[in-house]
Amino acid sequence: MELLIRKCNFNDIKKIHELSNTIIKTKFSLGRFKRILNRFPELCFVAITKEEIIGFIVATLNENNKKGIIFAMGVDVRFRKMGIGSNLLNKLLSVLKNKKVSTVGLHVRESNTNAIKFYEHIGFKKIKQVNNFYSNGESAVEMLLNIF
Ligand SMILES: CC(C)(COP(=O)(O)OP(=O)(O)OC[C@H]1O[C@@H](n2cnc3c(N)ncnc32)[C@H](O)[C@@H]1OP(=O)(O)O)[C@@H](O)C(=O)NCCC(=O)NCCS
Repeated sequence: MELLIRKCNFNDIKKIHELSNTIIKTKFSLGRFKRILNRFPELCFVAITKEEIIGFIVATLNENNKKGIIFAMGVDVRFRKMGIGSNLLNKLLSVLKNKKVSTVGLHVRESNTNAIKFYEHIGFKKIKQVNNFYSNGESAVEMLLNIF
């Protein structure tokens, strides 16, 4: 399968928002994605096959630019377990390394065991549980990866 990973642009945002709403339990507004892309255009990537966006990763930096934060990522259910999520995440990690960012963090629903396994496969460690993190009262697992 031909796969292209490229930086995201404003024309992609609607599709990313749609895909996110289809596959991620937490619903983010279109404006949220727009604001992140505006502020961190170098930290947002899409995966494309046959001109269709089938995956995305959107990340930010903390205030001192030392920590990367994965805001959201996802791969269309038809294309999972084919290495696309790893490809997207590794692209982001290489950009963060070039920026001398030392750690990457994220929160994931404790029920989202597939994503937790995926992040562990990349090398992320669970560091703590954050109670009542999501609007339905669900806890988050906070995960961290040291890249330096
Ligand atoms: C998490 C997600 C992005 C992974 O994408 P993907 O393209 O399927 O991941 P990869 O193919 O790169 O997987 C790499 C490795 O991660 C692990 N992994 C991935 N999905 C897994 C699953 N469902 N169960 C167990 N392990 C899994 C495996 O070790 C896998 O290697 P393998 O295929 O050799 O076994 C995808 O499942 C997804 O979009 N989930 C819904 C959205 C979501 O939960 N996003 C994260 C929170 S924002």
